[in-house]
Amino acid sequence: MGRMEGGGVSAREIVLLGDPILRARAAAVGSFDDELRELVRDMFDTMYSAEGAGLAAPQVGVGIRVIVAEIVEEGVAPVRVVLVNPEIVETSDEIDRDSEGCLSIPGVSEVVARPASVTVQGLDPTGSPVRVEAGGLLARVLQHEVDHVNGVLFIDRLTPLKRRILLQKYRKLGAKD
Ligand code: NI
Repeated sequence: MGRMEGGGVSAREIVLLGDPILRARAAAVGSFDDELRELVRDMFDTMYSAEGAGLAAPQVGVGIRVIVAEIVEEGVAPVRVVLVNPEIVETSDEIDRDSEGCLSIPGVSEVVARPASVTVQGLDPTGSPVRVEAGGLLARVLQHEVDHVNGVLFIDRLTPLKRRILLQKYRKLGAKD
């Protein structure tokens, strides 16, 4: 993987649609060591560099079950989440529809329906249990990132027609580069 170093920031290269790692079920994490903590730090740097709200380890080419998210809303302290081996344990019946994109499919977005709130359990980078009850944007981001460690992309949650139109648009963007 190429790495961009500078100013103490360690952003890693983001894997794009078409790379098989995005379609694989990522492996459970068993060791909570310095390597894991370095990965988490780099994932945040990568997410900040790309101006994303969430990132999953397979998106930086590491096939393990780690996700990060940060929600910044005006007038509220940023909410930062790291989950290792995340599992969605509860979902609301209420469905929310909102525009969604992915750093691995840059330049396109589409409305995706998802449960409006979720409870996600997992571990922190030291191996301690974490439970996150989320609504709003955080609920959406966490579901999107848990999908990633299962090899699922947001385009899989669109109707075949919407998915086809979005992919056509995405390929056109790529052709212009
Ligand atoms: Ni994504």
